[in-house]
Amino acid sequence: MKVLLTGGLGYIGSHTAVELLDDGYEVEIVDNLSNSKEETKGKIEQITGKKVVFYKEDLCNIEKLDEIFKKGKYDAIIHFAGLKAVGESVEQPLRYYETNLLSTINLLKCMRKYDVKKLIFSSSACVYSMDNELPFKETGKLSPLNPYGRTKLFIEEIIKDECFARGDLSAIILRYFNPIGAHKSGLIGEDPNGIPNNLMPYITRVALGKLDHLNIFGHDYHTKDGTCIRDYIHVVDLARGHKLALDKIKDLKGCEVYNLGTGTGYSVLDVVNTFNSICGDKVRYEFAPRREGDSECNYADASKAKNGLNFKTKYSLKDMCESAYNYEKNNTKK
Ligand code: NAD
Ligand code: WQD
Repeated sequence: MKVLLTGGLGYIGSHTAVELLDDGYEVEIVDNLSNSKEETKGKIEQITGKKVVFYKEDLCNIEKLDEIFKKGKYDAIIHFAGLKAVGESVEQPLRYYETNLLSTINLLKCMRKYDVKKLIFSSSACVYSMDNELPFKETGKLSPLNPYGRTKLFIEEIIKDECFARGDLSAIILRYFNPIGAHKSGLIGEDPNGIPNNLMPYITRVALGKLDHLNIFGHDYHTKDGTCIRDYIHVVDLARGHKLALDKIKDLKGCEVYNLGTGTGYSVLDVVNTFNSICGDKVRYEFAPRREGDSECNYADASKAKNGLNFKTKYSLKDMCESAYNYEKNNTKK
């Protein structure tokens, strides 16, 4: 099976490429490198011992995308490409709507023209209304809090409409919770530009002395230790979820939605304490005011993916912290 990964040199795409190559899939990647580096292609090849065809192109350019599809003869597409910073999306909503929606519409046009019938899309837990009962079920109320989340919700709807209109297009929408961690090789991982917004890359940089201390946003939430609860999932488990989605989509008609999480919530302090037990208490932290827009607690109902995709996570919070630390150390040497 030949699969095109859009945004395949990014954090989740690169880990998925490794899992698919290891499993015998033929993988091609298109990425504009707006949030990734070309050297990741070589690292994917180094880990797997297999070759990857890479196109440095922007999905917003339909002529270039058309050329890729003309050559490709893909059996399936996994669509990771897009902008993903929540705060930036509030400041630059039009850029987010334009990039995320236009790239998806271009992709769907090419899939239609070249008769590609299988699509897996990276959605997010942030499409859910935070008023939903816990754990979040796929059938829960949808009400994203920011433009980034709204691009995900709109794309979900566009994909469903296109499945209905075409009749022969099947899609699996995966709503990721909080992916963290890295491949055990330490060669690929999460490497955001500038000061990280997300918890784990901030922690690893404090541990390596690149940042002074972690601000924990809020310690007066109604949770066991006052800090927010999230469903952290090892990125390699998440990547395996895509392989299972590819297995499922072979015989699927229409569109299905699955949460990808562990089903367990951990607090910010759980993550920091686990990390500190591994690195020798290098992560200094201070309590800071709540971050605007943060929900107190969210985690997945993981039962639909378990039953429908046979998805079960393998890695613990300790594994997630160890692999993230290993990647940051490895990344710092060079
Ligand atoms: P990432 O930024 O590391 O990867 C996205 C990749 O897409 C990057 O390599 C970037 O260069 C590329 N890209 C962006 N716009 C493009 C365009 N117009 N044309 C071609 N390439 C383009 O992000 P990630 O964490 O790997 O996330 C992958 C997908 O999963 C995204 O759609 C993201 O919204 C979604 N997601 C991520 C998380 C998370 O916490 N990381 C959670 C939920 C959903
Ligand atoms: C996790 C917890 C923070 C940084 C975001 C997106 C979501 C999805 C995943 C893409 C929260 C706390 C964080 C710090 C802290 N992405 N924190 N100090 O906000 O759950 O989800 O990433 O789809 O859409 O919103 O993840 O890693 O930013 O935060 O205390 O310096 O860590 O308050 O409780 P979040 P996160």
